[in-house]
Amino acid sequence: MKHTLLALAVMGLAGSQAARAADSLPPNILYDAAREKKTIWPLPVRNSGELKYNEHRQDLSRWPTLSYQDKRDTKRPEKVELQGPLNGNAENGKKIAMNTQRGNCWACHVLPGDPQGGTGGPPLINVGTWGYSDAHLYQQIWDRRVANPATEMPPYGSNGVLSDQDIRDVVAYLQTLK
Ligand code: HEC
Repeated sequence: MKHTLLALAVMGLAGSQAARAADSLPPNILYDAAREKKTIWPLPVRNSGELKYNEHRQDLSRWPTLSYQDKRDTKRPEKVELQGPLNGNAENGKKIAMNTQRGNCWACHVLPGDPQGGTGGPPLINVGTWGYSDAHLYQQIWDRRVANPATEMPPYGSNGVLSDQDIRDVVAYLQTLK
């Protein structure tokens, strides 16, 4: 069996997120370039001690993995400039931040109304009082690696997980947290 079973989502889903595992990314996304959907999951064959590999129903390949099978280059950290006025929708930003399939910010951070705040990063309950500019927050969400190369925070913009407008909406939401 040539697939090596060693993969972790770079989304950093571990520890405090375990409780939400059921509705977030599978913890063992495997990447297989040969498959149509690029991602696979192990399927134990009953009473055989063997594994078969099925395709995931959805294409999860925009999330790089740490699988030995994953030969893709990780995108380099991207420095970006916020263009023009923010024009973000805070209401929508809140939905993105609290959606486990999108921003999933509350997996690592505490946000108001979060029943089980994450402890991977600093609590963001009053981030709107920290004096950060919109441009600063935009960059942090686009690609935090520019500030901290060893960060655990996923580069949402560089990896195409959130769009320019999504990130504007999240920034608008963060600025309301006072
Ligand atoms: C996998 C964990 C993880 C996720 C998911 C995550 N973050 Fe972070 N975040 C961190 C960590 C850890 C830090 C602080 C230290 C660092 O840079 O590693 C951080 C720092 C921050 C900071 C502070 C930046 C600064 O300049 O002080 C902000 C703001 C932030 N995150 C917002 C977000 C938002 C918004 C989302 C969702 C779109 C998000 N984070 C998702 C782990 C995460």
